Amino acid sequence: LVKPVILSGGSGTRLWPLSREKYPKQLLPLIGDDSLLQATVRRVEGLAGVELAPPMVVCNEEYRFVIAEQLRQLDKQGTILLEPAGRNTAPALTLAALASRHDGGDPILLVMPSDHVIVDTAAFQAVVRQGAELATQGAVVTFGITPDAPETGYGYIQTGARFGDAAAHHIARFVEKPDRATAQSYLDAGTYLWNSGLFMMRASVWLTAIAACRADILAACQAAWAESSVDGEFVRVGKAAFAQCPSDSIDYAVMERIAAAGEALPSGAVLPLAAGWSDVGAWDALWQVLPKDGDGNVSRGDVLLQDCRDTLAISEGRLVACVGVDDLVVVETPDAILVVHKSKTQEVKQIVDKLKRER
Ligand code: GDD
Ligand code: MG
Repeated sequence: LVKPVILSGGSGTRLWPLSREKYPKQLLPLIGDDSLLQATVRRVEGLAGVELAPPMVVCNEEYRFVIAEQLRQLDKQGTILLEPAGRNTAPALTLAALASRHDGGDPILLVMPSDHVIVDTAAFQAVVRQGAELATQGAVVTFGITPDAPETGYGYIQTGARFGDAAAHHIARFVEKPDRATAQSYLDAGTYLWNSGLFMMRASVWLTAIAACRADILAACQAAWAESSVDGEFVRVGKAAFAQCPSDSIDYAVMERIAAAGEALPSGAVLPLAAGWSDVGAWDALWQVLPKDGDGNVSRGDVLLQDCRDTLAISEGRLVACVGVDDLVVVETPDAILVVHKSKTQEVKQIVDKLKRER
């Protein structure tokens, strides 16, 4: 039994001003008619060869109504597990694992970020089927992307020996968010993959791993889970108990240590994923995955372009006109307009930080 667990806690600040604290990027229809969250739920539909459990979305209290509505639009029954506060992904997954073991079962969790794009669903599903086999054998399975730049916002997985007879390898090393020089050396070495942020493992295997690596996180989540209550379609965990939970990510808390030798931890496996993956972390990444006109431009809404190349222009209301510009991103919303060079889109985060501080 494979249970999709969708993590929906991030705020996607680099896609400001479309992505807002109150309406983060995973809830927006950035690619087609579905929001990224809805597309994530749909990505596993029709997954052949495995029994699929209803999805579980783990999210902050604050987004519960929008998320419930978006699931209803898809006609999806599922669980919405509410965190009273954000404690990053390790506690979120620990709660999901505890909830999944609640009825005595031990499903394979397919952990999916809610804010990614995967273009080739069939290729994705084929790899997930392989992942399910490895997870059945007790492995923590990761999905690796061939890197093409020394990105510092990703985890890097060094592939080790073959894992069984599938396309999988053991994880020789897992390094979360290395600095640029280190990332460059991994790129040069040619033996590293980016961590896609997708994981598969049995619920019990995750609980063993988090117990070994961060017993404090497990204890806090168990206490919060013990106080959980059902509220319609929502499951709410104990607020005071969860407030005591330390904050950490799956990657730092567990994955970096799974890769290290000599620990009594489940083994880690990595499967290559070539399915048009993007974490649409910033505007340039969104431009990359959207269909373009003959000059490489993407326009949405009321937009006029003259003599422009490789430009992304989005209008939510007013007419946006661009003339004679290359590699620009223009995003118009009712209360803010962003103009940023496509090579500087990472720096939008600094603008949002400044906004929070000064306004
Ligand atoms: N429920 C819940 N609660 N979800 C959360 C929380 C939380 O407190 N914090 C983050 N998430 C969700 C985000 O919405 C996102 O879908 C996913 O968990 C991953 O969190 P990010 O904050 O986006 O992680 P990251 O991008 O810095 O790094 C991860 O993803 C990279 C690939 O995109 C790591 O796994 C890296 O190793 C990986 O390369
Ligand atoms: Mg991310």
